[in-house]
Formats: sequence, C-alpha cells, structure tokens
Amino acid sequence: MVEVSNGAAFEATKPISQNEAIKAISTRKLVVPAEKLEDQPHVFAYDLDAYRANLAKLRSAFAPHWHHATAVKTNPVAKIMKIGLVEGHGAECASIGEVIHSLKMGFAGPDIVYDSPCKTIPEIKYALDNKVMLNIDNLQELERVRAIVESMSPEQLEGCVIGLRINPLVGFGAVANLSVSTRKSKFGVLCPVGPSDAEKAEREPVLEALIKYDFINAVHVHTGSGGMTLSQMADGAAGAANIALEVNARRSEVQKKIHAIDIGGGLPVTWGGDPSPTYDEYAAVLREKAPSLFDGTTFTRVVTEMGAKNNCMYGIYASVVEVTKATEGGKIAMIHAGSDQFLRACYAPHMRKPFPPSVYTSDGEVKTGEIVDTDIAGPLCFAGDIVVAGASLPDVQVGDIVVLGEAGGNTSGMRTTHCSRRSPPIWGYERGDDGNGDGLNFVNLSKGTTFDEVLKAWD
Ligand SMILES: Cc1ncc(COP(=O)(O)O)c(C=O)c1O
Repeated sequence: MVEVSNGAAFEATKPISQNEAIKAISTRKLVVPAEKLEDQPHVFAYDLDAYRANLAKLRSAFAPHWHHATAVKTNPVAKIMKIGLVEGHGAECASIGEVIHSLKMGFAGPDIVYDSPCKTIPEIKYALDNKVMLNIDNLQELERVRAIVESMSPEQLEGCVIGLRINPLVGFGAVANLSVSTRKSKFGVLCPVGPSDAEKAEREPVLEALIKYDFINAVHVHTGSGGMTLSQMADGAAGAANIALEVNARRSEVQKKIHAIDIGGGLPVTWGGDPSPTYDEYAAVLREKAPSLFDGTTFTRVVTEMGAKNNCMYGIYASVVEVTKATEGGKIAMIHAGSDQFLRACYAPHMRKPFPPSVYTSDGEVKTGEIVDTDIAGPLCFAGDIVVAGASLPDVQVGDIVVLGEAGGNTSGMRTTHCSRRSPPIWGYERGDDGNGDGLNFVNLSKGTTFDEVLKAWD
C-alpha cells in the first residue's frame, strides 16, 4: 500500500463504483472474519477521488477570495482533512481539541475557524495566540474577548480575525435539532435580519456593540444543518453581509472595518438519491441575495464551513456478518458496529435517511437471491442498537459482507465508547496501482482504536 497520491488523475478517470470498491476490499482481505482477538472484521472506506472532486466543485462554484473550511467534527480523520489542506481548504472547529488537531495537521492558524459556543478564557487566548479565526458566540464572550484584546499589543493583534456569530432568525429547517436559527437556539446573538421596524429595533443593540468594538472584523452565521432551504441559508448569509455593511457605514473614519463574512455550513446532502442542492445552485441564490460576498472589495474573505456535504457521500462501511437470527417476519443480521459508530441512525433516526444497505458474498460479489426483510443490528448490548430497520435484502448469511453507503460523515467522528468497543480501521481508495492489479490504490487512513486506547479512559 502506498501513500495518498496527489489526486492529479482523479478527473480524467471513471468513478469507482461501490461494487468495484467492495471487490477490491475483498481482494485485499480488509474485511474478513477475525482469527485473533485484536482482529477487526469491519472497515470504513473513503472514495478519495470522489472526495477530491467534490472539493474541486465547491471551490469552482465560488469566487477566489472565498475560503472553504471543512467542519472537522463531521470527519476528523487527519489524512482526509489533509486532502483539503493541500488544496487550500481550511478547518472549522467546534472545540479547542479540534483547533489543536487542526494545527497539528498543518493548517495555518488563519485558515482555522474556532466556533465553539462555550469557550473558556484560556481557550480564547490559545486561539488568538495562534491567529486562529475566532467567532464569538454571545455577548458575555464578547466582553471576555474585549478584555483579552485590550491586554494584547497591536503586533499580537495584527492579523487576528475575530467575528461575532449572529442568529438571523430565519427559522426551522427540516431537522429540528440541527436548526439553530430559532428563538430557542443556544447559538449566536439574536439578531433578526428582516426589514420590519420591530426587527430593526431588536438588532440595534447588536449593531451598536459591533460598531463600538472595532476589533471585530468579521460576522459569522450558520443557520442549521441538513434540512435548511437554500433560501433560508442565503437569507442568513445576506443578513450577515448587510449587518457588516451597516456597521462599516456607521463606524467612524478611524475605526477598522469588517472585512470577513463567515456563512457557515449546512448544505444538505443527497440521501438515497433525494434531490439536493449543488454548490452551483447555492452560489446562484447567494449571488442574488448577497452580491457583496462575491466582488471581493468590502469583504476580502468569505468563509464557508461545510461538513456533511464534504463527507457523507464519500464513505462506506463494510462488515462481516457475524450472526443471523430469524425474527418475526424476517431476519436480523448482526454486524460489528452499531450505535457506537452510527449514533444518529440508532438514537435519532429522524436526523438522517437510513444508510443504503447492500450485501456481498465473502469474496466481494454482489449477493443475489430471495429477498428477506432484514434488520441490520449492531453488536451493542441494548435493543435499540439497530442500524437499518426492515431493509429488503438478499437472504444474508453468516460470513457475508454487509455494506452501508452514505456513511462518510457524522459516523466514526461521533463514535462512543459505550460497551468499550473499538473503532474500526479506516481506508481510502483511489484510481492508481498498489500492486493488486485492479487499477486501485488503497491507503490506510486510520488503524482504528486498540483495546488499550479504549480501556485507558476507564483506568
Ligand atoms: C458552526 C457550524 N458550522 C458548520 C457546521 C457544519 O454543518 P454541515 O455539516 O451541515 O455542513 C456546523 C454543524 O453543526 C456548525 O455548527
């Protein structure tokens, strides 16, 4: 196995189908029954060419002064984040741990965005010391940052991008607990962006704070994930841009101006073939609603923070079927990951569509035959550990390989250590040659976790 290539060939070559990937996984014996205690009979696998191609589409949809940070939480695997890094992408961090991880991966401080809604004073100082873009979440934090900024020299402050996150109140999207632009939201400073007098009156104190504190040179907004409409997202972005324009107009001649807008992530993904907006479509709506984001004059940096859209479709999960059981009206097929890797699917299935499942024989051929109503269950010790319920699948047998598609984001990055289970290895594949004769190059992206690593937390 060789290193991740630079991906130069990805556009010229044909896409790698799931069947081709599974055959290759089988050829390389990456998903085989365990022989030793430490063996892991399951993997995540990423199509690196498709991952790169998607990032290229994102870059080409927007103007050159845009900076596309990928949300680390969606998939924190360093070798995957580094694919973005070499192409000029940044890293959006929900915690100081993710900031430390991003700096270690080699992202430059200014290409990292720190967005936690609950930061300690040392965390704020750490971000500023490293020139990480800091998005202030609330007015209490604003006072903390003001005090820190006042203690810094102009040289220390030079190059720091500090934003204020507004909540533009554009409303719920399709997924309630991913919608953060409501009056109940814990994120951002309430700042309605509509034209009514009541909305103007409500946003005035926010504007006044922004006008007064000219160390704030950015406005941040993220309205929600996976279910917001393009119009809602673009209204939020346009609201942020308009607020910045008004603040700039009302700041005095000697005050610094807002030059950066961060429009967050949230572009929905195409679960199970559902139509979902492309980057080009999003860009078109944004150009119409927020043209100031595109000319590169007032706002010399526009940041995006895509997570799901940059990851979910490019990863699959494959497991040996360890156990099958007849159940009322069908069958249960038990695989090696459940709610420990697929938290949302098991605990909050309304948050996403089920992973599209398929079955392969142990030598990587598509399984055919009688269709059986099948629950794909995880190995954890509780009844709700069902990853996909009621799937219509060819009769699954012990030793077959069950594959879950659309598993590349908000899966292993959300893993739990419930039942002290380890995480499986993660592989990447791309067109190339690792000596297996099938025109693919497989690269290990993560070894998974060991018993020692998992159990250390309980010592
Ligand atoms: C502030 C912020 N930015 C970006 C993201 C990524 O969102 P998505 O995965 O929907 O693109 C999130 C998700 O929770 C977020 O909270």
